[in-house]
Amino acid sequence: MLFPDYRPRRMRQNENLRRMIRETRLSTDNLILPLFAVPGKGVREPIDAMPGQYRLSTDNLVAVAKEAAGLGIPAIMLFGVPGKKDPLGTGAYAKDGIVQQAVKAVKNAVPGLVVITDVCLCQYTDHGHCGVLENGVVDNDGTLDLLARTAVSHAKAGADMVAPSDMMDGRVAEIREALDENDLAHVPIMSYAVKYCSAYYGPFRQAANSAPKAGDRKTYQMDPANAIEAIREASMDIEEGADIIMVKPALPYLDIIRSLRDEIDLPIAAYNVSGEYAMIKAGAQMGWVDGEKVMMETLLSIKRAGADMILTYFAMDAARLIS
Ligand code: PBG
Ligand code: ZN
Repeated sequence: MLFPDYRPRRMRQNENLRRMIRETRLSTDNLILPLFAVPGKGVREPIDAMPGQYRLSTDNLVAVAKEAAGLGIPAIMLFGVPGKKDPLGTGAYAKDGIVQQAVKAVKNAVPGLVVITDVCLCQYTDHGHCGVLENGVVDNDGTLDLLARTAVSHAKAGADMVAPSDMMDGRVAEIREALDENDLAHVPIMSYAVKYCSAYYGPFRQAANSAPKAGDRKTYQMDPANAIEAIREASMDIEEGADIIMVKPALPYLDIIRSLRDEIDLPIAAYNVSGEYAMIKAGAQMGWVDGEKVMMETLLSIKRAGADMILTYFAMDAARLIS
């Protein structure tokens, strides 16, 4: 019998040997928890398609933020779900808007926790698009100023970082300039640079009531078939002043995360989105997969693909298992 000289199984014989040659480690340092802020007091509304996730009024959101910080999670990402909407999404850049209020409350209660805000108009526009409409189509350049105003108002409320998710061309440059002009040059931009037009956002749109009323997002979000274009999108945002490049969704786009990790020299974030979360939760509830194991394997795979940070609704569950 001929044996191979190298037997990979030799180094897999026990956990200590496996630990010694382990290439990737998921750390709580890598996790960012997304949270949904709603107006009111004492509100904690479960999100149907995202078991374990809630729409939270500021008081309850602060409590969750404290808990996350206590588990060692370094940052949260805030989304606002406003009470009213209008064609120009004015709630997004209102001084006392829902995100602005939530940021203030969290920074006040948990000053050390990094608060990142999602900058977009879709939760605030009555038509549900990420930009304003002109004759029924999204007006790219007419949207930029409103996004910049939104980012500045978040930063003025105390946000540590802003994260534009709209996918309008040129928005990173516009936001960078507006921040700099308002003495907010220290505020970094995490750009949703490589955001695909994905069905995996379904549960989020239910949670945030932000689905477009007519049409879809195909004219601004990326075609899932394109990989080379991801490098171009990321390069443009880097030139415009982005500090972190995000890929979204994560799991169906691990190849994109890897290629960006090999091509660019900025930190990379990956967004393990609502549909990815919902599928694992559903499989676990049915008893068809082991939810905790599938969760940890999924997060590890995103890290192994090259993500430095992972936005995930699993952040608290994972942090509990890691520590
Ligand atoms: C808004 C936004 C979306 C998500 C983050 N920011 C939805 C969308 O583009 O329709 C998705 C997050 C998730 O699915 O978890 N621009
Ligand atoms: Zn949007």
